[in-house]
Amino acid sequence: MTFERTLYSRRQVLSLGRKTLLVLGIGCLYPVSHYLRAKENQLAVARIASSEMPLKIHWQRLGQTRFWLRQGNDGVEGMWASCTHLGCEVSYNSEQELWLCPCHGSRFNRDGQPVQGPAVNPLARAEVQEKDGFYLTSQKV
Ligand code: FES
Repeated sequence: MTFERTLYSRRQVLSLGRKTLLVLGIGCLYPVSHYLRAKENQLAVARIASSEMPLKIHWQRLGQTRFWLRQGNDGVEGMWASCTHLGCEVSYNSEQELWLCPCHGSRFNRDGQPVQGPAVNPLARAEVQEKDGFYLTSQKV
């Protein structure tokens, strides 16, 4: 009676399976942790003394933030300068009276409505409160 030798023993195959599952499990940690740390439900906030930022009818950037403010007909208005295509920072060109996105060329009118794609949704308005000589503004990001 002769026995054929197998290439791998049962123990070796099970060990390889365990190691493979371990590597796959570790490989899944990054995307899962990235998902859990996503910016959903985060709130961007900014505050500035109104004396430091006398408002005009054209949009003005609030410091180094993505908040822009202007004096509207019904009080202070806020805009969150994130393109609705893929989130690049847009800036307001007061000569053209357009919001311009440097990434893929979307343009928005002064009220944030899209006038040229690829973005199809308007810019997000930021909530602004005037309180005790300060402008307080916030936006979900
Ligand atoms: S991110 Fe603005 S056009 Fe694509």
